[in-house]
Amino acid sequence: MPQAEINTTFGKDSSFTAQRVAKHRGEHTDIPYAKQISTILEELFGPVPDNPNIPVSFHAYLELRYKYLDLLLKESKATKVFEIASGLAPRGLIHSGTKGIQYVEMDLPEEMRLKEQIIRTLCKKQGISFPEKLWLQGGDGSHPEDFKRACDYFKGDGLLAILFEGHWRYLSFDDKHEELESARLELTKHGGRLITPDIELLEGMTLARSQAYEKFRQTSGKDVRPNLFKTLEHAISFCKDRGFKVKYYSTADTARDMYDSLVSPKHFNLNKEDLATSLSHRYTFVLEVA
Ligand SMILES: C[S@@+](CC[C@H](N)C(=O)[O-])C[C@H]1O[C@@H](n2cnc3c(N)ncnc32)[C@H](O)[C@@H]1O
Repeated sequence: MPQAEINTTFGKDSSFTAQRVAKHRGEHTDIPYAKQISTILEELFGPVPDNPNIPVSFHAYLELRYKYLDLLLKESKATKVFEIASGLAPRGLIHSGTKGIQYVEMDLPEEMRLKEQIIRTLCKKQGISFPEKLWLQGGDGSHPEDFKRACDYFKGDGLLAILFEGHWRYLSFDDKHEELESARLELTKHGGRLITPDIELLEGMTLARSQAYEKFRQTSGKDVRPNLFKTLEHAISFCKDRGFKVKYYSTADTARDMYDSLVSPKHFNLNKEDLATSLSHRYTFVLEVA
């Protein structure tokens, strides 16, 4: 698709956050292909503006959630992976084809077109072919027909892992409900689990956090607060009521465990306890059909 047809007005559409996350990953982490993706993004579409309002702990959180999700994916032993709202993350490029993994990514159509162009450019620059078992599908995770169409790519036996990272704060509770209904159907068919670090609570709101949500609302036009769970119990019962068994992991504890494997806290002079404290309102959920 010609570049002019892709909306790159950073900050004005719902996908701009993915561009900023990609830039962060390229500049402050050692995640494979992250640097190449952010470089190509800016070469093709111009500079991604920095957001001075983002607290440094949020940068470290972005690296943590990516790496932790990778660990949980490995643990799941899934050979079919469906990553919803994948943005410009390199996980699909890295995992597809290894150990027979079939990998389907979905994001809103415009974001997926942007991604396809970036991944094709990256493959060309690296002299590698576009992975045979990677499918980039435009769609909305809360639309059952888009969800099903994406999962129709999977062939044969093997467990499914459904992933999403940085996406649920943008979904209303009705849309979360739709996504979980579709996930339950597919997990019933294939076996496996849904893994997400996106459980974000209103409980324990600090002034700094409240100001960050407000600044985000002013710059993006999106108020995510109505989409957040009130408490951990609220998040657990929301998932249980939709037919799932819930395992949960405190992101603060994960930060303590994984601190030494993170690059970005060192870039920002952020110590382990300060990082953990800043993440006390976040959890990772692993859901299996009850
Ligand atoms: C903060 S970005 C995270 C992207 C990626 N997971 C990462 O960590 O780099 C949020 C992404 O959610 C996508 N998104 C928001 N609502 C969506 C929906 N209903 N269906 C699919 N993708 C959605 C946006 O387009 C955007 O790419």
